[in-house]
Amino acid sequence: MSVSVTWHGHATLSLDVNGSKIVVDPFFSGNPATTTKADEVAADFILITHGHGDHVGDAVSIAKRTGALVIANFEICNWFNAQGHAKTHAQHIGGSFQHPFGRVKLTQAFHGSGLPDGSYGGMPAGFLLTVDGKNVYIAGDTALFSDMQLYGRAGLELAIIPIGDNYTMGPDDALTAVTFLKPKVVIPIHYNTWPPISQDVDAWIGRVKAETESRPVKLGVGETYRV
Ligand code: NI
Ligand code: MN
Repeated sequence: MSVSVTWHGHATLSLDVNGSKIVVDPFFSGNPATTTKADEVAADFILITHGHGDHVGDAVSIAKRTGALVIANFEICNWFNAQGHAKTHAQHIGGSFQHPFGRVKLTQAFHGSGLPDGSYGGMPAGFLLTVDGKNVYIAGDTALFSDMQLYGRAGLELAIIPIGDNYTMGPDDALTAVTFLKPKVVIPIHYNTWPPISQDVDAWIGRVKAETESRPVKLGVGETYRV
């Protein structure tokens, strides 16, 4: 399996999965943390965790430019259709589907999902990707929940989780999440974009090293981790 993950700041990720280009929650325009422009992003697939503007972001323009398949919950896919992008694949919480690059399961997330124009965005989600038998979990915006232990049972090569607090899990709950998920590697996201989610990521990395069996990886903006 060949999976690489590039962090663009906030919750925006580019994945290269065995050559397929996947963008998760593409928020570039107006994202104070990113150094990438929306019109330079390559995408075969776009995964959207929920409807908030800092996750839907530039997804419509990138989808239309690239012709990427949008994978999200039913309500968000309908919204893309209404924006003039017909190429969508709707799933919902607990459901998985074998896409060309790997299996995608929508996992629960405790959060909101209203779309920027006020449309209903359905339930927020995370993603469990299975590629060549290896699992990568992207939590999405969420509170801590004990069923993360179930995702951990599957055996995770990598977990990507929010630590910013205020809108999502903060550092303490994210540390508990690591003990539930037991990933080989954990990457923190959704922090330091704006003052309410400002965190001492180095302190959190230190606690993961000291208090869990997982290896924390701190990505700088634009940096890539290869699974
Ligand atoms: Ni959100
Ligand atoms: Mn968010």
